[in-house]
Amino acid sequence: MQHRPRAAQAGRPPRRGLPNLGLGVGLRNQHFNYLMSHDPEVEWFEIISENFIDNYGYARRVLERVASLRPVVMHGVSLSIGSTDPLDWRYLKDLKALADFVRPAWVSDHLCWTGVAGVNTHDLLPMPLNEESLRHVAARVRQVQEFLERPLVLENPSSYLEFKDSTVAEWDFLSELVRETGCGLLLDVNNVYVSGYNHGFDPVHYIRSLPHEAVVQIHLAGPTDCGRYLVDTHDRPVPAPVWELYRLAQELTGGVSTLLEWDANIPDFPELVAELRKAEPALRGENPGSPVQPSRAAAAAVSNPVGFQLAPGDD
Ligand SMILES: [Fe+2]
Repeated sequence: MQHRPRAAQAGRPPRRGLPNLGLGVGLRNQHFNYLMSHDPEVEWFEIISENFIDNYGYARRVLERVASLRPVVMHGVSLSIGSTDPLDWRYLKDLKALADFVRPAWVSDHLCWTGVAGVNTHDLLPMPLNEESLRHVAARVRQVQEFLERPLVLENPSSYLEFKDSTVAEWDFLSELVRETGCGLLLDVNNVYVSGYNHGFDPVHYIRSLPHEAVVQIHLAGPTDCGRYLVDTHDRPVPAPVWELYRLAQELTGGVSTLLEWDANIPDFPELVAELRKAEPALRGENPGSPVQPSRAAAAAVSNPVGFQLAPGDD
């Protein structure tokens, strides 16, 4: 499957051999009919891999058309790289078969676990972050990369709890994982904002501490403010503090592919594109939002996320 080269790619250096695709959105079934009859006004698409594995109906036809027009990236939610269950080789075989069809620019998933003892929770659960879990995940990342014959790109999760067994900050864990495996990073600046708020760490420090040369993609999204917590709902426009984190990430990385995630209350495609285009000032180095007010615990913002523990009734 071939896609047309886009002018937006010109002049942008590849990162880890992976191209800068510009601005993209997720391929969602609410837009299938629109995309079958319109030239998409975005530079690339991200698919949820599981939605297209063993799916040979209308969705596969839409994917085939979209991939003939624009680059596509595969984003999975089932790898469960952090689980203590063995790797699911049947899933990986299906994933590789889909990659053979799509020829994605890259394949990504999350730093998380989704279940154990054969039970799938269908949630992206946070991991304890320590030396033992780092060794465990690094070995599995190497196995997956060898099997898929391509670098794996891992996304920082949004989270609502932390583990007493964690001894390493998430940004340090990801940095070491990159160093040990050569994997790429999908930096979700909304997830950094959400987790920073929920756990009381400084999202700017998080983003500044990452190995920026390993960041090959950025996610943008809008969370829901539930008072004590921010919840990663992907159901609204990107708030100003997330735009500012995005500008910082683009400055530090030198510019990487950007994807707007919108998964509930999904607007019509032109409205989605209008929200995505708000990223353009940041691409030019301009500040798109107001100063970051990240955390109800900003005064306690420290480099160790496990130092802040929620207690019942804590606000
Ligand atoms: Fe994300």
